[in-house]
Amino acid sequence: MVNTQVNLSGLKLSNPVIPASGTFGFGYEFADIYDINILGSIALKGTTREPRFGNPTPRIAECTSGLINSVGLQNPGIDSVINAELPKLKNVFKKPVVANISGFSTDEYVYCCEKIDSQDQVGIIEVNISCPNVHGGGMSFGTSPESAAEITKRIKEVTAKPVYIKLSPNVTDIVSIAKACEYAGADGISMINTLMGMRIDLKTKKPVIANKSGGFSGPAIFPVALSMVYKVYEAVKIPIIGMGGVSSAEDVVEMMLAGASAVEVGAANLVDPYACKNIINNLPEVMEKYNINSLEDIIGAAHI
Ligand code: SIN
Repeated sequence: MVNTQVNLSGLKLSNPVIPASGTFGFGYEFADIYDINILGSIALKGTTREPRFGNPTPRIAECTSGLINSVGLQNPGIDSVINAELPKLKNVFKKPVVANISGFSTDEYVYCCEKIDSQDQVGIIEVNISCPNVHGGGMSFGTSPESAAEITKRIKEVTAKPVYIKLSPNVTDIVSIAKACEYAGADGISMINTLMGMRIDLKTKKPVIANKSGGFSGPAIFPVALSMVYKVYEAVKIPIIGMGGVSSAEDVVEMMLAGASAVEVGAANLVDPYACKNIINNLPEVMEKYNINSLEDIIGAAHI
């Protein structure tokens, strides 16, 4: 029998598959269609201090092998997440979760992380400094090593939970940003968020998305994500949660060979709500096919 267990900063996950933030709500919404306790963990919808309605519509554009979103961090705000969403999730999901935090100022990130620190079910805080869909926040904190390090340092002062910094691929040198986060005390790296993209409607001759451009995700970005995870793995010692176009058990194995200790599945959930379930079910067979006894043994094995 193969061993799918992985370890993320001391948290034992029965398997490495985690639905990515923003593609699986607060998790409990999926409990009616399958037993979500088969998941390794769940990365919750990104949360800011205040409730946010998000960007104007249309916010989604389909592309070959992927989609563009410009949701704009729509969420009910940190108090509602703590008082309404997490209790609902706790009823149906019995494992630690990944809380995803966003913001428009360093103080806002710090405030939200300090609040979420009080929640027992939160095993990891994933700090999103890579949302490409908002002005004056999100990605603007993640495009330089200095600002990424500063926010990491400030957050580490207010929480004892493992802090994973979610990085953007829309930078010149993601390795230097990952290294700066590690140096500032990050416990792990989540990567990659979406790539900037746009579509133009041939009939209207205008951008499909109201916000003009958005974040491109889906199978088309998998090779980009893989190559970035591979490079960052060589530069840091902290664990990496790999993501970006993962849509099969084979992709999970490939991502782990590149250096990921666990894997988030994003756009695939929007195509098929059973995507994570199918990946988890297929994982043992794929491991057997490629003579893998334990997933922990293959982390970074592609490096020579
Ligand atoms: C969004 O809410 O616009 C997507 C979140 C992200 O890309 O980080």
